Amino acid sequence: MNNEILQKVEKLLSEMTLHEKIGQLNQPETPSADNAEAFKEAVRNGEVGSILMSVGATAGNDAQGAIDISFYNEIQRIAVEESKNHIPLIFGRDVIHGHHTVFPVPLAMAASFNSDLIEQSYRDIAQEAAQESIHWTFTPMLDLARDPRWGRIIEGPGEDPYVGARFASAVVSGLQGDDLSKSDTLVACAKHYVGYGASEGGRDYHRTEISDYSLHNYYLPAFRSAVKAGARTVMSSFNDVNGQPITSSSYYLTDILRDKLGFEGFVVSDYDAVIQLKRQGVAADDADCAAMALNAGLDMDMHDYCYAANLEKLVESGKVSMEAVDNAVKRILYVKFEKGLFDHPYCTPAGYDKNEHLKHARELADESIVLLKNSDHLLPLDKSAKICLIGPFATERRSLLGSWCIDGTAEETPCLLDALKESSTGKIEYSSGLGLNWDSTLKKAYNSDVVVLALGESWSSTGEARAVSNISIPPEQLAIIKKVKAAGKKTVGVLFCGRPIEMQEISNELDAVIYAWHNGSASAPAVCDILFGDVSPSGKLPATLPRLATHIPLYYNITSSGRPVNCYYNENPYDCYIDSIPTPCYPFGYGLSYTTFNYSRPECDKTEISLGDLEAGKKITVSVNLENAGDYDAKETVQLYMNTPVAKMMRPIRELKSFKKIFLKQKTNETVSFELGYEDFGYYDPCGNYVVEKGVRNVFVGENCLTVNKVSVIIK
Ligand code: NOJ
Repeated sequence: MNNEILQKVEKLLSEMTLHEKIGQLNQPETPSADNAEAFKEAVRNGEVGSILMSVGATAGNDAQGAIDISFYNEIQRIAVEESKNHIPLIFGRDVIHGHHTVFPVPLAMAASFNSDLIEQSYRDIAQEAAQESIHWTFTPMLDLARDPRWGRIIEGPGEDPYVGARFASAVVSGLQGDDLSKSDTLVACAKHYVGYGASEGGRDYHRTEISDYSLHNYYLPAFRSAVKAGARTVMSSFNDVNGQPITSSSYYLTDILRDKLGFEGFVVSDYDAVIQLKRQGVAADDADCAAMALNAGLDMDMHDYCYAANLEKLVESGKVSMEAVDNAVKRILYVKFEKGLFDHPYCTPAGYDKNEHLKHARELADESIVLLKNSDHLLPLDKSAKICLIGPFATERRSLLGSWCIDGTAEETPCLLDALKESSTGKIEYSSGLGLNWDSTLKKAYNSDVVVLALGESWSSTGEARAVSNISIPPEQLAIIKKVKAAGKKTVGVLFCGRPIEMQEISNELDAVIYAWHNGSASAPAVCDILFGDVSPSGKLPATLPRLATHIPLYYNITSSGRPVNCYYNENPYDCYIDSIPTPCYPFGYGLSYTTFNYSRPECDKTEISLGDLEAGKKITVSVNLENAGDYDAKETVQLYMNTPVAKMMRPIRELKSFKKIFLKQKTNETVSFELGYEDFGYYDPCGNYVVEKGVRNVFVGENCLTVNKVSVIIK
């Protein structure tokens, strides 16, 4: 921490009354026009520390007004010039995967396995948002999720802790830049800490059971990485873990987050989460809620005014110490100083290059798309091919932007029909495939060279409070897939989905399948890049696609069972369920290319290393030769997995330890090397201590989690 800032914080704090201190902990949402004057008065009196720049409990689902910069500048002027302590407000808004330029939903971004592009995208996002009064955003969302019924799976990086950790550091670095006080940065907020993605049954806000062993190895790595990358704020999650609401848990908010992970910034609650402690059944009244949350280490109260209404009395009665309040205030003031708000409190838009941002959005969308199936090399299509485009997503715009898109504009988003007409030189026929005119649709299909089906799920069936029990595309779309067979044409399915969906039936029926996600402003042009081969697909799945919804949860980094009934790797399918094949339809890390990549056997520079050498910082280098043997220049994500056959605790059958995305021109090859050190060979015990045990490690390097391409090393 910076001493100069600490001194400024201490000085300011010494001049504040308790009432003003509590004001810093209070984050109301933007007032309505009716309340604006009363709100300004509260700011003048030092009763507001921050403004949540949206309205409503599920801001990502409802239309939010455009940002009125002059309003926020005026409010800021009152705070800075008319309040006694002249403390600027910090304005926060959910800018989850784009501001006006919308990038792919985070789950899709993770599919790119391209940390540099993700970081660049969040630089762009910060630049755009900062021009509209926003200082702080509630991003990245880092909830490990194994249940696609949970609508919020789209907001995070998927099922893998290592992918989550890489995503976290890329987003934090992108948003915060190298100097947070610059005007084109945003303060990042790692959320929802912690375990929210494990909501039972995928039902939003539901209870979770997470052992400490799982917590440290699966749920914390992304947060650990965000903290390491310098995330200045963390949002506590709504859920409880093992019966303890996170909002009131000093174990999770202080012992683990601050003492173990070393977090030094401030914690904001989720929306109304403090007051909800009553409903969660651990607090009797509002005062209890406020005391429990503050004493647990929760610094800023989002929206419910519970701190504002209760903390003064609680300090007077001794239920909350002045020291606890001071600590919370200090953390908030520290971030305000770091963000440069005392020097530059106002927003003065400087403009940005929208085309450059759109270019980056398209590059990321290109790399996020996952090619799942390509029978007989149907793709890429010839640009002059006669295409019959069928399906409701041919003209869909809003859903392509995805959930949690507050400031993007559907009207400016090209649909697939527009984009196809733009990039193809052949004849394009179109039908929604819905309604009664199936004969004419069939005729168009029959007269085409190939049928492209534009299918998907609505943005509004994903996101907060949008759990579904049916993870498929709507039945009328499944019917289109079946009916189009009558035309006897090769058929490509383009699936615009936010979450993993059940794939068995869809995959069986189609000749080629493109998983196109809700990929933001450039969704449709990016699909055309892939359809016509301007770009060879390179996305890989950050979450397993099951055959059937009833196989959930299905994730790759499971431990072995005593009898061979694991559902993921099992080659004797009916060991798991007696009535269906339980292996994934498409496993974690999977994604096809138009070219052929060949992997050599991995090699190590040494096959043995002592634990002492590892502790002293020595590394092992594992290398493979990657050959692009096909006819396309293309990118490949080389994935390195590890398995520890014998350890004191059961370890996963495979766990991703590293990846590199490599571009190779056709008919060339390259040696790809990974350095593995102490931090790669161990795991966290249930107390959260990192341990590296002696013994064998199998290191697998290949194209997805099922690779058998391995080398073994021994730690002596
Ligand atoms: C509730 C959501 O859980 C959280 O992700 C979001 O940042 C806040 N509301 C503010 O909109």
